[in-house]
Amino acid sequence: MIDFQSILGAIAAEAKSKKDKGVVATYIPELARVDKNKFGISLLDNKGNLYNAGDAAEQFSIQSIAKVLSLSMAFRILGDNLWNRVGVEPSGDPFNHLSLLEMEKGVPRNPLINAGAIVVADVLISQFKNPKSEFLHYVRSIANDPSINYDQKVALSEKKTGFRNYAAANLIKSYNNLHNDIEEVLDFYFHMCSLTLSCRQLVNVFYMFVNRGKCLQNHTYLDINQVKRINAIMLTSGFYDEAGEFAFEVGLPGKSGVGGGIVALLPNDFCVATWSPGLNKKGNSKLGMQALEKLTTRTGLSIF
Ligand code: DON
Repeated sequence: MIDFQSILGAIAAEAKSKKDKGVVATYIPELARVDKNKFGISLLDNKGNLYNAGDAAEQFSIQSIAKVLSLSMAFRILGDNLWNRVGVEPSGDPFNHLSLLEMEKGVPRNPLINAGAIVVADVLISQFKNPKSEFLHYVRSIANDPSINYDQKVALSEKKTGFRNYAAANLIKSYNNLHNDIEEVLDFYFHMCSLTLSCRQLVNVFYMFVNRGKCLQNHTYLDINQVKRINAIMLTSGFYDEAGEFAFEVGLPGKSGVGGGIVALLPNDFCVATWSPGLNKKGNSKLGMQALEKLTTRTGLSIF
């Protein structure tokens, strides 16, 4: 039996004592205000046991982690037709890169870079009258937690400075791969990114990717092959131009966000979330990555 509680406790203590905690994202002004001394970690195993250490109960902006949830919602509805609008190859480029988008005629490489998630937002807008509330309802029901919400301040903050996302949306629209109004698509995208969850809540939501598409309450959201595909995309594209490094160091599918969160999982086994707001040069949480490397190395648990 692995003693997850003491492993997480040790990892949290080591993270708190680290001097170099990375750099907090400033291009979304509201995120620049977050205290970079925070560190939280939660792990939920396949028996429903939850282990926490540090600031695991504190909520933060999940940013790009939400892209996995919007992807799962769109994939449920469109099935494999979704892949006519967005690819499944790693980009090897930063999350907000634009040149590939032009070369590949407005079809983003994958749904986890910004351009891909903007197309997924467009797909969802075409399906729902009120996509913001449908998406929120979807996440709340997976987590069985009606307290989950958007952070309007963060969404507005990003809207004011989201120049690269406006550029991406315009480029995609010029290739006819956005069907709705750019303002509407980006407003929805910025709201999705502004979702606020704690590490504890994140492992709860992502448990369905551990548990063959079923949430903790045993409701089925995805079939096993859909879970296979989404986990594969997380492994190959969840960390942008650092996906190889994350697979090499940690060995789990996962997703990061510029709010400093990372969620990762071992199918059929456990889900883990970390939060440390300081980022490395690739925009992924510096101490979060280190913590997850320690977790899989010390437990010997990874997909490899
Ligand atoms: O669109 C953006 O730039 C942000 N809302 C999300 C980017 C992000 O989280 C990248 N992840 N590490």
